[in-house]
Amino acid sequence: MGGSGGRTEDNRVSRGKPHIRELAADDYDALVALWTAAALPFRPNGRDTRECIAREIEGPCSVFLKATVGGRLIAAVLGTHDGRKGWINRLAVHPEHQRQGTGAALVRELEARFKAMGIQIVACMIEDWNETSMEVFEKLGYRQHPEIAYLTKRAHPDA
Ligand SMILES: CC(C)(COP(=O)(O)OP(=O)(O)OC[C@H]1O[C@@H](n2cnc3c(N)ncnc32)[C@H](O)[C@@H]1OP(=O)(O)O)[C@@H](O)C(=O)NCCC(=O)NCCS
Repeated sequence: MGGSGGRTEDNRVSRGKPHIRELAADDYDALVALWTAAALPFRPNGRDTRECIAREIEGPCSVFLKATVGGRLIAAVLGTHDGRKGWINRLAVHPEHQRQGTGAALVRELEARFKAMGIQIVACMIEDWNETSMEVFEKLGYRQHPEIAYLTKRAHPDA
């Protein structure tokens, strides 16, 4: 393969340290391609439309980050906060770049930015089938709270 990288034995790509910075509205198509490649469930007709993502990026409650290698978006996380608690949403790393520390680097960067805002707790929601994600977050220091139930009220079923 071209460029400065190469493939590892299990077909992952290794190409230098990813560059982490803010996601932009015009990253939307690459973001959707990333979520699709990573098999991350998302809400294309609800809160993950192009318009919603663009609005959130402009708003005061978002810390949306991307990781790129050679200009290509290989990972992203949608951090949000309410001034009191930080949330990790839609963390995804392209399968060709997984298990190289990128997911951890995005979470650490998000945590640092929340901490700089005075936020003392960071949370994420993980669907029960996603055992990999559960393992990853536990390795990153997050703890489960089985005593807490998740309740929602939605504007419409796709929200
Ligand atoms: C979850 C995900 C973002 C992890 O990204 P990643 O870049 O591969 O993770 P990292 O390489 O930074 O690994 C972070 C830690 O998790 C561990 N880890 C990573 N993948 C793992 C796996 N499949 N099983 C067990 N542990 C795993 C790593 O060993 C590392 O722990 P360590 O520091 O103790 O070695 C990635 O697997 C992904 O995109 N999954 C699909 C989308 C998804 O489910 N997102 C989460 C939604 S809540």
